[in-house]
Amino acid sequence: MGNRERAPLVLGIETSCDETAAAIVDGDRRIHADLVLSQIEDHRPYGGVVPEIAARAHIDHLDDLIRRAMAEAGLEFRDLTAVAATAGPGLIGGVMVGLMTGKAIAAAARLPFIGVNHLEGHALSVRLISDVSFPYLLLLVSGGHCQLLTVEGPGRYRRLGTTIDDAAGEAFDKTAKMLGLGFPGGPAVERAARAGDPTRFPLPTPMVGRPGADFSFSGLKTAVRREIEKLGHPPTAQEKADLAAAFQNALTAALVDRTGQAMGMFRELTGVREPEMPPLVVAGGVAANGHIRAALEDLARDRGFRLMAPPPRLCTDNAAMIAWAGIERLRLGHSDPLDLAARARWPLDPAAPPAIGAGVKA
Ligand code: KG4
Ligand code: ZN
Repeated sequence: MGNRERAPLVLGIETSCDETAAAIVDGDRRIHADLVLSQIEDHRPYGGVVPEIAARAHIDHLDDLIRRAMAEAGLEFRDLTAVAATAGPGLIGGVMVGLMTGKAIAAAARLPFIGVNHLEGHALSVRLISDVSFPYLLLLVSGGHCQLLTVEGPGRYRRLGTTIDDAAGEAFDKTAKMLGLGFPGGPAVERAARAGDPTRFPLPTPMVGRPGADFSFSGLKTAVRREIEKLGHPPTAQEKADLAAAFQNALTAALVDRTGQAMGMFRELTGVREPEMPPLVVAGGVAANGHIRAALEDLARDRGFRLMAPPPRLCTDNAAMIAWAGIERLRLGHSDPLDLAARARWPLDPAAPPAIGAGVKA
């Protein structure tokens, strides 16, 4: 009773990929619980995420994880204002597990339900840690996506650029696999690169200098493979480190160049003129990369933007960002019917044409 007049208190559920996650967040940005159960060990033998294994693992662990989150927060379902669950995009089996669970709790506790776009979770996560106002420029770099967007508010996105083939995280994961650095690839490549000489192997910096703000990483991946083949032997630890460093540098150069392009487009589109310093927000798993964050920091400084990056824990998949996106939606008076469908594909900017490359979700 009276729940709805108080600051919203929302249970968030995330199951779109290989993390089972539950969190409770309130409208004053307090995180009451934030649990993430990684399935990395389940998928490691396969060198990548296996959708069927992921869906099964979500089924096995989600109920208990939610119970633990509620206990940690010292709350009952009836104390909540709403339930928010990722409704897509992602691996459809996993999405359905979280979505059904969220709906069931909402129905049983008679709470509003919100189906959250996972990408919107990443896009708004920065507002959970500071009151960044709209509009801002967003570089969203994850395992399935690589996009530049103008964020004007919840549900209001304009895509400025996207990858035409691989996502940035996918490029990290594939490179790690080729180098035998293990799974997941991003953190492994970053670690190896610290001991590497980035100048030893020449790699292309894809799309740099081209008009527009699109990305392409499949050529870079192929170039890494060619350098490994040219060695004529399995790479030594030092060669792995050097290749990892060269790859990370090339990918970073592409991100910086494309983001620089998007900065001009952003100012044009929003009318935010210099000397006003709009936020450049970086989000998604790849935003956990220290090298990339530092390079974006320099770019932002040079170009009159303020870099805002959520802490690494909020960059990789989590349910706090889903709960928060739910709160943002709830504040706009939004909730979803209990027959809301799960979506494998769900672009933030539905007006943007689909990318031409295969394998991208938006
Ligand atoms: O956002 P996320 O957790 O899941 C998706 O929604 O895709 O992103 C996962 C991706 C993986 O490809 C992973 O290798 C990459 O983010 N990643 C990193 C780092 N940590 C995670 N990439 C580069 N450097 C990192 N430190
Ligand atoms: Zn994600």
